[in-house]
Amino acid sequence: MTDSTVRPSAIFYRSPNDEYPVFVHADGYRIRDAEGTELIDLTSGISGAAIIGQGSDAVAKAMVDQVGKISYAHTTGATTPAQEELAYRLTSLAPEGIDRVVFSSGGSEANEIAMRITRQYHLARGEPDRWKIISLYPSYHGATAAALSMTGRWDINRDYEPYLFGSRKVMAPVSFRGPYRGLSAEEVAIQAANALVVAIESEGPESVAAFIAEPIALSTGMAVPPPGYWMRVREICDRYGVVFIVDEVLTGMGRTGRFLCLDHWDVSADITTLSKGLGGGYVALGATLVRDFIAETIGAENRKMAEVHTYSGSAQACAIGIAILDIIEQNDLIEGSARKGELLEVWLTDYLSGLPWVGDVRGMGLFRGLEYVPADNPQGRFSAVSGISAAITKAMWSRGFLSRTMHHNNSVVSDVTTIAPALTISEADLEQGVIALADSISQSGPLWNTDGS
Ligand SMILES: Cc1ncc(COP(=O)(O)O)c(C=O)c1O
Repeated sequence: MTDSTVRPSAIFYRSPNDEYPVFVHADGYRIRDAEGTELIDLTSGISGAAIIGQGSDAVAKAMVDQVGKISYAHTTGATTPAQEELAYRLTSLAPEGIDRVVFSSGGSEANEIAMRITRQYHLARGEPDRWKIISLYPSYHGATAAALSMTGRWDINRDYEPYLFGSRKVMAPVSFRGPYRGLSAEEVAIQAANALVVAIESEGPESVAAFIAEPIALSTGMAVPPPGYWMRVREICDRYGVVFIVDEVLTGMGRTGRFLCLDHWDVSADITTLSKGLGGGYVALGATLVRDFIAETIGAENRKMAEVHTYSGSAQACAIGIAILDIIEQNDLIEGSARKGELLEVWLTDYLSGLPWVGDVRGMGLFRGLEYVPADNPQGRFSAVSGISAAITKAMWSRGFLSRTMHHNNSVVSDVTTIAPALTISEADLEQGVIALADSISQSGPLWNTDGS
């Protein structure tokens, strides 16, 4: 924990009154705090970024080697072999017809670049009235102003509302709670896709530029959209000339058992954004992958995208991205994520689904969620002061695991534990993590405060 008796911290913490653990060392998916407690990290560095684990010698070597060549030249006027190579490698893994990449320094930037490319595309096509962006509720697309505008999370963006642009939200295809509860998977797919049609029609199709969505979102507690939903979304976007942007910042790079999560449904978007696993927790790196017809339309009109960030596509960052891709490929980590994900699903079901507080278990690959309900009310929810998040985190910590549980303050998701370990995690440690979670829930569940549920 932060030790203010030694020296007061100068960090302005996100939650100023909370205590933060101090992590001093990490090796693979094991992480150690300043007091010497070693934990197995089920969160990939809390955010899901540390996808290959930490402390990689190969990444360290790639960093040093790149320093010995060239670290940096602003991409507004130059390129480097590292940037070219990483772009080539990503487009080789992406679906057919996606051959252009813009690099950035993170997920919010990657999504804002997607938004600006969309705008340039419509301007190049002579449709200047197309500027509106539609997104899902709930969703998260980043913390910068435009990314926050596209974000469907009232709990986090309401304070900044005066600075955000209005962006229409449609209900995500979530059925554990909310308006789609009780419907069949097919009905959810149809109704949720129709909600997009209604939004486009009521905004005026000629004014809608893009639809942006995460294939599986942390904000929905890892709810997996029903079969047919993404195919319908693709068809609707095509029908209305709306650019389909998929935010794979969290789900990309093999997290769900395919390179892109959307690959599971054999659907490909017009613009794809990546970040967390791309930099792997070693570097701030984002990428916006662009379908050829969009790049060609913008190119044909010679429209320029002047907006660029100082560190976008730096040789140093790209060299790290290449090293991470090498590790993913050499160790078959994407196939491993699919295989371990299947085991994880079995263990979650076997060890957890009998507990009265576990309402739903869901997700894909190594990206899973566990939603809680009061033991005596399988359709109920806990209040914000229930203390579930702190209780589970503490109970898991005492069993040697770093875990993440969030209280979602909306009508379709409640309290959810996320399981998103490094793709390198051993099967044995993963199973032990699930057992620890079952024990932690059994221990703390009876004490959860149900006031306000
Ligand atoms: C789905 C998604 N999109 C965008 C972002 C924003 O990325 P960054 O924090 O790198 O700006 C995040 C971050 O959590 C995310 O999960």
